[in-house]
Amino acid sequence: MKIKRGKSVCLFSPKGGVGKTINTINLAGIFEVLGKRVIIIDLDLYSGDIATYLNKKVRKDIYDLSLDLDSVVEVNINNYIIKVDDYIDIIAAPVDPRCASKVNINNIEEIINRCASRYDVVLIDTNHALNEISLSVLQTVDNILFLTKNEPLDIKGLSNLINLFDEYEYTNYKIILNNSRDPFKDYFTLFDIKKILKHNIDYTLSEELFLKDIDKYIMDSVIVTLDKKFSEYFFKDYKTFLTIATDILGGDSSE
Ligand SMILES: Nc1ncnc2c1ncn2[C@@H]1O[C@H](COP(=O)(O)OP(=O)(O)O)[C@@H](O)[C@H]1O
Ligand SMILES: [Mg+2]
Repeated sequence: MKIKRGKSVCLFSPKGGVGKTINTINLAGIFEVLGKRVIIIDLDLYSGDIATYLNKKVRKDIYDLSLDLDSVVEVNINNYIIKVDDYIDIIAAPVDPRCASKVNINNIEEIINRCASRYDVVLIDTNHALNEISLSVLQTVDNILFLTKNEPLDIKGLSNLINLFDEYEYTNYKIILNNSRDPFKDYFTLFDIKKILKHNIDYTLSEELFLKDIDKYIMDSVIVTLDKKFSEYFFKDYKTFLTIATDILGGDSSE
């Protein structure tokens, strides 16, 4: 019997505010459109806002899960999972930030693997700091999506990180240029960016995806990619999201 194993993915950038969290949620919506079951694990331990974005009440979070994995013999992961809809679930970041530093890093791999055995896709949101948690995530996941805006500090920061990855011969990453987060920041040409990063830009989220009503969407916890009009209004970016999703699913996309 074939044991199911979903794909694990982390959107990462060495800078905050580039759109990691929002596009993690957007991608979850795209996987739902493809009929895939998704879990988002919020490992932005000090300031995770996935549950807040989705207006979900948190009874148990990743800290409780980690604590119980260390102390309870049989842990039923269902008790820590919050349902968003029929396709998307989440495990929330610690409600109490004082618990963030107490999450046992040694449990991260097990949590990701347990989720991968139950879901088609495991999406992980992290903080931009390259701390032990993020490192553990980046070393565990199947796919890393580096997200960057088109501005000098972002590109230079990502370039340093890519050099590090190349040194360690980690090759399981792709790069997303996010022009939607701040469409007026377009310092470099695409040619320049590729030259600085010494890497191709795998995907681009266009300026057209800049959402004027983002604050309202956040207040109403709307997953824009699930809106029926999304594929029509943002056709280009819809196709890009679909390409990212099918690349992640690889050969398993129709299973
Ligand atoms: N497509 C977009 N259009 C408009 N504003 C955006 C868009 N994506 C992100 N933002 C803005 O950027 C802020 C930071 O995004 P977020 O996903 O929280 O970044 P990160 O997780 O990388 O810190 C959001 O609060 C939102 O106001
Ligand atoms: Mg974030």
